[in-house]
Amino acid sequence: MRRLSGGLTVPGDKSISHRLAILAALAKGPSEIHNYSPASDCQSTLECLRRLGVSLKSGSRNKRPDPKDDYPWATPPVQIRGNGLDSWRKPGRALDAENSGTTMRLLAGALAGQPFSTKLTGDASLRRRPMRRVIEPLELMGAHIRARQGGFAPLEITGSPLHSIDYKLPVPSAQVKSAVLLAGLFASGTTTVIEPVRTRDHTEIALAEFGAGVRRVGKRIELAGGARLHGHAVVVPGDLSSAIFLIAGALILPGSNLLLVNVGLNPTRSAVLDFLVQMGAPLRVAQIAERHGELVGNLEVASGEGLRLCGGEIAGADVARMIDELPMLAALGPYTDDGIEIRGAQELRVKESDRIAVLAENLKRMGAQVEEFPDGMRVAGRVNGQKAPLHGAIVDPRGDHRLAMALAIAALGAQGETTIRGSECVAVSYPSFFTDLESLLAR
Ligand code: S3P
Repeated sequence: MRRLSGGLTVPGDKSISHRLAILAALAKGPSEIHNYSPASDCQSTLECLRRLGVSLKSGSRNKRPDPKDDYPWATPPVQIRGNGLDSWRKPGRALDAENSGTTMRLLAGALAGQPFSTKLTGDASLRRRPMRRVIEPLELMGAHIRARQGGFAPLEITGSPLHSIDYKLPVPSAQVKSAVLLAGLFASGTTTVIEPVRTRDHTEIALAEFGAGVRRVGKRIELAGGARLHGHAVVVPGDLSSAIFLIAGALILPGSNLLLVNVGLNPTRSAVLDFLVQMGAPLRVAQIAERHGELVGNLEVASGEGLRLCGGEIAGADVARMIDELPMLAALGPYTDDGIEIRGAQELRVKESDRIAVLAENLKRMGAQVEEFPDGMRVAGRVNGQKAPLHGAIVDPRGDHRLAMALAIAALGAQGETTIRGSECVAVSYPSFFTDLESLLAR
């Protein structure tokens, strides 16, 4: 019987890595970022910062991290020597965020108040994603941004003196919130972002770590402009949004025994664990600690032979709290008794792909019963306790990393072989996904 067994350190959190790199580049003095994400998205951020004249050194992963080490991060830290808010220089050519929405939207905020203009572009997928959501608040602050018809990249940002605003987020988006807060560093006065639905708060935590005057009062986040940020050494927790694929694999293959160490457990990200436990997942969290304002801990899954997951519905505020885990949860649907229903998640249609349409199409190819809605989907559960509810197929995640991994995990419990077209796209967030999965399958 195939199962997942053993321990592993998942790569550093992608969201946190972007923020630490950008803030280190705006701080004064040297910073060291340990366990920086190897995701190609996070390498795009480093490359953009280099082009802005930031002094930066990053090593490449030279050995697999060993969870038994006291200090299991095999990559040397990313070293960034920032020289303050006004130290960036006009880049010689357009900055390329490639596939990374976080790179483009956060840098748009940090570039809005610079005394030069910058062009920000990306790959075909990123050039199709909505940018009006960052252009609008940044223009309210005084920035000048030209976009392609419809509010799409490339963006031409002409930096200008900025003033603070009170901004209520029209979409629950941590990227928009972060763009406004980063621009707020350059603005006169106190910038306030009001978030009706809470989103991940890594920017606020990192800003406080680097010495900015930032505070949350209820749904309001306030940031004082003109802060002096100080460089320092930080450690990035493992990425829960990557860990979730291995956890789901252990749930699909009964008899699995998995230990994932140093995983980020920030409460604005960890709702997915509560949801899995509610479904009956044998999940244990241990050794919780706080590091640089972020919670980290170890995750254990020990799935017995007769494991049954009941399924469930995700809607409302939970959508924002599980946004990146929704594809994997949907692909778990056929392995549950009652299926998975996702509602209020129209944001999934403007991610790296239209995640509702592409996932529905591919899960159907594997034999799942899927109903698609404008704002979500319903994936039916096991019929009559079937052992293998899916069958192998040729699937095409359209270059979307999270869909490639969700389909690969769904394929573990399917009857027959699955071929994933363009599976190398997993490198966008988790380059060692397939080797990590193989190592856990082999033991
Ligand atoms: C992210 C925020 C989310 C998430 C994305 C990373 C971030 O996007 O889906 O993968 O790092 O801030 P939105 O802000 O568009 O919801």
